[in-house]
Amino acid sequence: MNMAIAIDGPAGAGKSTIAKIVGKNLGLMYINTGSMYRAVTYIALENNISYKDTDRLMKLLNNAEMYFDGDNLILNKKDITNQLTMPIISKNVSNYAAIPMVREKLVKMQQDIAKNYDVIMDGRDIGTVVLKDSQHKFYLTASAETRAMRRCKELTEKKIDVNFEDVLEDIKKRDFIDSTRELNPLTKADDAIEIDSSYLGIDEVVELICNHVKNKKK
Ligand code: DC
Repeated sequence: MNMAIAIDGPAGAGKSTIAKIVGKNLGLMYINTGSMYRAVTYIALENNISYKDTDRLMKLLNNAEMYFDGDNLILNKKDITNQLTMPIISKNVSNYAAIPMVREKLVKMQQDIAKNYDVIMDGRDIGTVVLKDSQHKFYLTASAETRAMRRCKELTEKKIDVNFEDVLEDIKKRDFIDSTRELNPLTKADDAIEIDSSYLGIDEVVELICNHVKNKKK
């Protein structure tokens, strides 16, 4: 098995920031699986396809080409990375991510990448489903308020106008849908190390993860 690090946790826990840095430090390909579910939502909304219309959605997805170019996500030859964090996508993504056929397709794509490369992946079902044989699993959390504050800062930096209460409500709603859906809900794998990042800086979390990985490899 290639080197594979799994990072799971709720929205806004800092997974992508941390995973990106750990990936650079350890020489691993970073895969943000949330951006794949966001890309599905993007293409669905662009084509006015409801999450209830799985037939049309799957037809569209089965004819689409999706891949990563570094940290950027390319869909049908278009770099849509910047569009993926728009509030309209965040509001709708949990509904599309709960569709079993969508999950089946994306999980297979993620497992294929992990077969060919050393990876660090973040998401909701990485330690429990996608990379369930991984030796290195982490579950990153923070309070809903801390996560909403971080998301607001991130969006404001991107010059997207947001309101804290709306972001907090959206995060709580997504936590609920992500952790109660029938297929592959957000749960901590039994063998994952839990890290609460509410009072930890980025560097401290990165160091914790890198040290755990290095110690386990010894
Ligand atoms: O990490 P994120 O907020 O960008 O994820 C977007 C959505 O995708 C989130 O609501 C849950 C879903 N998701 C998932 O169901 N499984 C994953 N492996 C990654 C994300």
